[in-house]
Amino acid sequence: MTPVHNVTTSEVSSADPGDGAPTGVPLLDFAREYAQIGPELLSAVEAVFRSQRFVLGPEVASFEEAAARHCGVAEAIGCASGTDALWLAMAAVGVQPGDRVLTTAFSFFATASAILRLGATPVLADIDPRTSNIDPKATGAALEKHPVIRAILPVHLYGQCADWTALSGVAGRCNCLLIEDAAQAFGARWDGTPAGALGAAAAFSFYPTKNLSAAGEAGMVTTASAAIARRVRSLRAHGMEVRYYHEEIGWNSRLDTLQAAVLLVKLRHVDEWNQRRRALAARYGELFTATGVVEPGPYPHHGLVLPWADPRAHHVYHQYVIRVARRDELRTRLTQRGIGSEIYYPLALHQQKALASLGYRAGAFPESERAAREVLALPIFPQLRDDEQERVVTAIRDFLS
Ligand SMILES: Cc1ncc(COP(=O)(O)O)c(C=O)c1O
Repeated sequence: MTPVHNVTTSEVSSADPGDGAPTGVPLLDFAREYAQIGPELLSAVEAVFRSQRFVLGPEVASFEEAAARHCGVAEAIGCASGTDALWLAMAAVGVQPGDRVLTTAFSFFATASAILRLGATPVLADIDPRTSNIDPKATGAALEKHPVIRAILPVHLYGQCADWTALSGVAGRCNCLLIEDAAQAFGARWDGTPAGALGAAAAFSFYPTKNLSAAGEAGMVTTASAAIARRVRSLRAHGMEVRYYHEEIGWNSRLDTLQAAVLLVKLRHVDEWNQRRRALAARYGELFTATGVVEPGPYPHHGLVLPWADPRAHHVYHQYVIRVARRDELRTRLTQRGIGSEIYYPLALHQQKALASLGYRAGAFPESERAAREVLALPIFPQLRDDEQERVVTAIRDFLS
């Protein structure tokens, strides 16, 4: 079993079976990105060492300004991780211990654990099987069962925004705030509006496998509200606005200057990289369709179901995720051929042992449980070569036909 929630550099480089034939395809290969922008990164990092301003140095403010511009919001506040960004965003909008926060049943664990860390309770809703994002209808039904909800926290899973049009309608009915878990969606848009500018606040992750990534842990909160931004800035620094005068209990979650310097460099490339991801996704679609193993979906039977992009969404394909009924067998076959793949995620949130106390029974969220059995992420990263992509498609076709 993978020891961490996302791919590490060592897993990535072990994709080739090692028998001499170049059949392997890595799920991700950071070395190729480094080959492309290494000198830019090193000179940015060197500048930080020269300045010796490792905590909240000038690169942090520069990154925050540039990222805010990119997301079309007034404020961006760097922090130590995406998990902290969720925590900070919810705390700053006023989620309190004892509150309920409605979120998807199918996401990375931190979406739910950040709610619990605040002393609040996650209320889960099932997903739309076409996008694997929270289903607005299920969200509405959950609101009827739990009328007092402080906030709704949709996740833009795999790089595609949740249906913000429908969710805004649902949130309007309960008068609760929408907060984005945009950890996987830097550069994505819904109906023209960038992820990060949709909700009252948004949380991004720059974990090294993300489509905009740091050289370690990093995250960011965005918001249009000066008051929320001010509170996030205070909370990320021990509840302090004036040095050593603490207004409330915060924590230490500043963005390292070194990480900000790295992110500033990568921000210059992220649009081009996202474009390449979109082109690779379109090409996967063409190649798979030509094999004849594609089924219309959303449920696969003998073949595979391709990811579906809502026409209102600008999907950035942080992950390219297919659905296959015999998913585990296929994955074993791909591994034998040295082709990287990953399951995001093998369990729905209510199936996690750590969340058993939420009290949901097996079968409570059938679409999320089904997704956990069927989803498989294939190699997609800006430097993936066309011939490698063809090898992935051929291996899957051979298995399914
Ligand atoms: C949907 C989602 N939410 C939250 C997080 C947490 O981000 P981080 O790993 O930076 O703490 C992640 C990252 O793995 C994620 O994918």
